[in-house]
Amino acid sequence: MRLFARRQVEDRKTAKITLITSCKGGVGKSTVSANLAMSLAERGKKVLLCDCDFDMRCLDLMLGVENDIMYDLYDAAKGRCDISRALLRDERSENLWFAAAPYKGGREITADEFTAIIEGAIALEEFDHVLLDTPGSLGVPAILESGIVETAVIVASHQPSTIRAAGQTGEYLAENSITDQRLLINSFDFEAALSGQRPGINEIIDRSFIQLCGIVPYERELMLGAEMGKLAGQLKNSNAHAAFGNIAGRLEGENVPLFNGFKGLKTKIQIMRLLGRG
Ligand SMILES: Nc1ncnc2c1ncn2[C@@H]1O[C@H](COP(=O)(O)OP(=O)(O)O)[C@@H](O)[C@H]1O
Ligand SMILES: [Mg+2]
Repeated sequence: MRLFARRQVEDRKTAKITLITSCKGGVGKSTVSANLAMSLAERGKKVLLCDCDFDMRCLDLMLGVENDIMYDLYDAAKGRCDISRALLRDERSENLWFAAAPYKGGREITADEFTAIIEGAIALEEFDHVLLDTPGSLGVPAILESGIVETAVIVASHQPSTIRAAGQTGEYLAENSITDQRLLINSFDFEAALSGQRPGINEIIDRSFIQLCGIVPYERELMLGAEMGKLAGQLKNSNAHAAFGNIAGRLEGENVPLFNGFKGLKTKIQIMRLLGRG
């Protein structure tokens, strides 16, 4: 296994660079990246959301900007355009910017090239946060090799195989010097946890050994919305929107109660059962 040393980066602006990852596909990394980026923007932070799923771009569809992409991160990395040309401001928030992955190819980007474009973007727009959405395989080695990632949000869905994958992802990242890791449980099935059919939150944390940063419920509307370029904040009565807001606060160091703002959770007994099993 290749181990990448963490580089000392002294002269970059202090944007917080967060990797959204799991070695498992389909757990919701892109959904989490897009919605978390918007929630941070809603808090007044200037955010750059980067689709680093080179070869399989998809965030442009989730954001509804697929027809607006002229240049992507790989174009900027290879000097075909200035980084400013690859940055697109989201129409819903003046604080949210997006950079697309190449439609095809791009995995041979080097660590130096990746560092240069991310630092160039930060220097240009003075972002507070940069979120990097990754492919399922842990993918692009240049990202880890660059040494610029500060925190990793490891996404698991409410299924044993993805919880195991989260633990494995955490081990791999730690071997590559990314030790600030948070677990995000996505597509959490409240009914299954309440009835004991699926593990509760404490059990998931015990299995993955990673500190929890939040729970995002399974919401069919979130999935349908994503197909139409809509984010959680555009859905009525969305607990997912509350969840992403909570996680954004925790990423910024705030102490936010686990189910803050969730509708439909009434009793302490219910919450205890969600934490435990059955
Ligand atoms: N919390 C959720 N509730 C309902 N559907 C979700 C949720 N999170 C993700 N999905 C859906 O699951 C599928 C995979 O999500 P995606 O974000 O593309 O995963 P990944 O990037 O890890 O491959 C998509 O159809 C997405 O809309
Ligand atoms: Mg994805």
